[in-house]
Amino acid sequence: MSEARSDRSNRSVSVPWVLEAPTRDERLVMMTAYDFSQARLVEEAGADIVLVGDSLAMVVLGHDDTLAVTVDEMLHHVKAVKRGVQSSLLVADMPYGSFHLGQERTVAEALRFIKEGGAQAVKIEGRRPETVAALVEAEIPVMAHLGLTPQSIHKLGGFRVQGRGDGPRRELLEAARQLEAAGAFSLVLECVPADLASEVTSVVEIPTIGIGAGPHCDGQVLVFHDLLGLEDRISPRFVRRYAELGRDARRALSTFADDVRKGRFPSTEESYDDPSFSTAEPIRKICG
Ligand code: KIV
Repeated sequence: MSEARSDRSNRSVSVPWVLEAPTRDERLVMMTAYDFSQARLVEEAGADIVLVGDSLAMVVLGHDDTLAVTVDEMLHHVKAVKRGVQSSLLVADMPYGSFHLGQERTVAEALRFIKEGGAQAVKIEGRRPETVAALVEAEIPVMAHLGLTPQSIHKLGGFRVQGRGDGPRRELLEAARQLEAAGAFSLVLECVPADLASEVTSVVEIPTIGIGAGPHCDGQVLVFHDLLGLEDRISPRFVRRYAELGRDARRALSTFADDVRKGRFPSTEESYDDPSFSTAEPIRKICG
């Protein structure tokens, strides 16, 4: 275990701890989780930050994009994840539509994630410094998100690399500065060229957390289902699959089905017996 990691394991991760990560020259690890058992797994694996991402819409709820998921649906999962998290920082993603209808409504929706869900911070997509400032003013820490922001899929015309070319590059750098000035405590950079992510990382003091943004960010995040090989509809170039749980699960489930059909499951060891039961008695006595 590294010195930095042992420092982290002594206490819960806080927003200031994350904010100061670049000064400790330490890489942040963020993973998504959507339920209790996933939360326990990612925390036990050493995630500094657990994000209940709106990727939930795709990998858990089966939608083709992230637009449909609601605050109520997100909250249901944030609460479950909260029960599995002891010391990682819990961040809730604000879904599409929850921060587009004015600051007051945005703060009210974000407060639900903090008060009802137990999240310690929220994440919002896009260049919205005023919204970030309003949330920070309400004591709600904000993780910003630039580059490929999947909630803008219709505007962007698909899941595409962002920030290529002089204009888009300048715009992204400016947006990063604005979000930092507005009070964001960290910044996710999704699907941008590695050299641009590196430049953003050097011009802002808040930690950058990359996904498809090369190796120079202050931290990295992957979606639970992608890194474990559970999602096979989309396979972006930036995903490294650390396991093939989808394949293993299919194998295990079909073996179970086969065992049931062939009478191999359950065995006597997997069944209960009742010493007071005499086989001469009618069968309904065991069940009743
Ligand atoms: O929704 C999500 O999971 C995310 C991460 C990919 C950063 O926004």
